[in-house]
Amino acid sequence: MRLQTKVAIITGGANGIGKKTVERFLEEGSKVVFTDLNADDGTKALQEFQQKFSDIHFIQQNVQSESDWAKVVSETIEKFGRIDVLFNNAGIYKSKSIEETTLEEWNLLMGVNVTGVFLGMKQVIPIMKNQRSGSIINASSLAGLRGSAYHILYGASKGAVRMMTKDIAAEVAPYSIRVNSTHPGVIQTSMGDDVAKGIGVTTEQIGKGVPLKRTGTPDDIANAVVFLASDDSTYITGTEIVIDGGLNI
Ligand SMILES: NC(=O)c1ccc[n+]([C@@H]2O[C@H](COP(=O)([O-])OP(=O)(O)OC[C@H]3O[C@@H](n4cnc5c(N)ncnc54)[C@H](O)[C@@H]3O)[C@@H](O)[C@H]2O)c1
Repeated sequence: MRLQTKVAIITGGANGIGKKTVERFLEEGSKVVFTDLNADDGTKALQEFQQKFSDIHFIQQNVQSESDWAKVVSETIEKFGRIDVLFNNAGIYKSKSIEETTLEEWNLLMGVNVTGVFLGMKQVIPIMKNQRSGSIINASSLAGLRGSAYHILYGASKGAVRMMTKDIAAEVAPYSIRVNSTHPGVIQTSMGDDVAKGIGVTTEQIGKGVPLKRTGTPDDIANAVVFLASDDSTYITGTEIVIDGGLNI
């Protein structure tokens, strides 16, 4: 088991990539606190996980809220005593032309995708500094590396996540804390469906255009996150892991 003795916080863990990552972490022996804005989906996922695992805890959280973050960190310490891994996974997607994009939409995307990641790192790093170890993984996207039409909101937010990752990696490296970002292509989740709808195609059609001839699965991302969280990656920090079937070649 690659994550035995680790304690992890995973945001947006009730669905999609986050939910699969919670499951993979539990299989690898990690204790997990997962959070989500959607309490119903979170409670349902918790019940599923509890059929096989006991070191699992769910907290409803809006990642934009500093007081919610304080609660997540204090409950994790109370329950499991330390924090080894933070996967800042929660995120939202919107595709729109710049003329149609409202300031409210801009603030919402930045609030969840950027402020959420900032607050998570800010709250967890003091604990990791005391431990003199930790691994933070921030969910960016291929959209954080490449431009595309109608992606002003999502692309700007995920580009920010990529650079925040590098800045903080440089800042906390003296404490043996590693910070990396993941950059998925199109992944089979409800968000992946929205991405396909936004460009007027199906995910199957997108898959045909991917060099590896398929869209990604939540497992494809979860496996990369397990690697970045584990001691198999102790010399990797400040980098972007692209998981896209070759779209960015
Ligand atoms: N699916 C893709 O194709 C794809 C591609 C690249 C990057 N990503 C990124 O991967 C991450 C996960 O995406 P997914 O496809 O699993 O999405 P998803 O929509 O399936 O799941 C996201 C989860 O985040 C939760 N969430 C939303 N806002 C929240 C908030 N304010 N606070 C707490 N939780 C919140 C949702 O309730 C949901 O359970 C996101 O950051 C996304 O941008 C996804």
